[in-house]
Amino acid sequence: MDGISIIGIGKLGLCVAACLAASGYRVIGVDKDPVTIKAVNQGQSPIYEPGLAELMQGLSAHLSATDDYKYAIENSDITFMVVPTPSEKGGGFSTRYVEAASREIAANLKNKPGFHLVVLTSTVLPGDTDNVIKYLLEEVSGKKCGVDFGLCYSPEFIALGSVIRDFTNPDVVLIGESDPRSGDLLSKIYMMVCENHPPVVRGTIYNAEVAKIALNSYVTMKISFANTLAEICERIPGGDVDMVSRALGFDSRIGRKYLSGGTSYGGPCFPRDNKAFSSFIKRIGGNARLAETTDQVNNEQISRVIDLIKQQLGDINGKKVAILGLTYKTNTDVIEESASMAMARALGREGAAVAVCDPAGMENARKVLGKSVEYAGSAGRCLEGAEFAILAMPWDEFKNLRPEDFTGAMKTPKLLDCWRVYDRLEFGKKLEYFAIGLSPT
Ligand SMILES: NC(=O)c1ccc[n+]([C@@H]2O[C@H](COP(=O)([O-])OP(=O)(O)OC[C@H]3O[C@@H](n4cnc5c(N)ncnc54)[C@H](O)[C@@H]3O)[C@@H](O)[C@H]2O)c1
Repeated sequence: MDGISIIGIGKLGLCVAACLAASGYRVIGVDKDPVTIKAVNQGQSPIYEPGLAELMQGLSAHLSATDDYKYAIENSDITFMVVPTPSEKGGGFSTRYVEAASREIAANLKNKPGFHLVVLTSTVLPGDTDNVIKYLLEEVSGKKCGVDFGLCYSPEFIALGSVIRDFTNPDVVLIGESDPRSGDLLSKIYMMVCENHPPVVRGTIYNAEVAKIALNSYVTMKISFANTLAEICERIPGGDVDMVSRALGFDSRIGRKYLSGGTSYGGPCFPRDNKAFSSFIKRIGGNARLAETTDQVNNEQISRVIDLIKQQLGDINGKKVAILGLTYKTNTDVIEESASMAMARALGREGAAVAVCDPAGMENARKVLGKSVEYAGSAGRCLEGAEFAILAMPWDEFKNLRPEDFTGAMKTPKLLDCWRVYDRLEFGKKLEYFAIGLSPT
């Protein structure tokens, strides 16, 4: 079986590496971070991702890590690049890490005999794989793409918290290829790893790059549409976004996923991919209105929450507001661009005393929010003395709270349930209960 090297074994790369190793491939992870390398070589996962630590147990014969590109390239036939592509000011993605990795791969391909496939998994702007990666690989190695080595752009449509399941059971496999041989080789690998026989869409690299960011942009548009429905339902008598979105979701043209109505979208991919989509459209002279409006609606979802709190408390200066849930979704410790973090910052700017609680994201939040908020070890602590509470992320730990947990601890028991997890009638009898997407009447 082919040997595979994975450059960048972070949140996505390590999951890919572990899944490939579990399918029988001999996988060498390459990273710059010594902590990551050490952990992987000890069979441990340095990141929080459900199922990863278990998957890595017993894989030591198949999965190793190093910072040595030479060793990794020489001992593999296929190399995946899964390094970061941070957002840039104008909305695009920086290719500086991808460039650095490409140079090192190419330098080691120079004298390596035989065909080697390079697969770019990192998210890039359309055009970058050919203009930046292919250019560098050819320039530095002195070899010809499509002849001496192959190049594919093959992004993943995974969500943090379910990376292993998403990677092994994808709705679609997308392959942009420099030549059919490279596409065939990569398809074969996916067929070894995927448990669900997914459709494979193959074509040019440029089209695959567009498809990747278009998909995430579409999902953000759907979320913003659901949040618009939520606002409508809050303004009509008896409004209930769950009923409206259920009806829409049954239509096969629409589907139920991401149509709930709740907080704004966040995380490391959605906001930045949508902005990158806008930036790319403008770069090629197109009209980015739809993607830009999606983003605007998303930001307004935060303002709507803050406005409700101000409406309820008047001047919020010095008043305690409790935020339950900090991550951008459940089952992850990632707080990047999360709605709760935006709410905490906005409330802090208005002088509120913000307390936060989260089963997984506290450590990461502390690095960003510093001393500006109180970090509560439990929901009860977080609610103590609060005048308003926001259930921002429906972690199981919070779903089990009873009305008495709020009334017993809070100064004034007012609750905004962003995801409608509590029984409205029961909670409404005992405290002032508000919910995104439900009419207050
Ligand atoms: N995390 C996700 O949910 C997700 C989903 C889809 C796509 N992606 C894309 O995948 C890429 C990686 O994302 P991530 O979340 O895994 O990032 P990450 O920051 O978690 O991991 C990146 C890893 O690359 C390593 N690295 C950086 N430069 C390197 C170099 N020159 N050589 C070797 N290692 C290097 C870092 O040390 C780190 O361990 C990004 O382009 C991202 O947009 C991520």
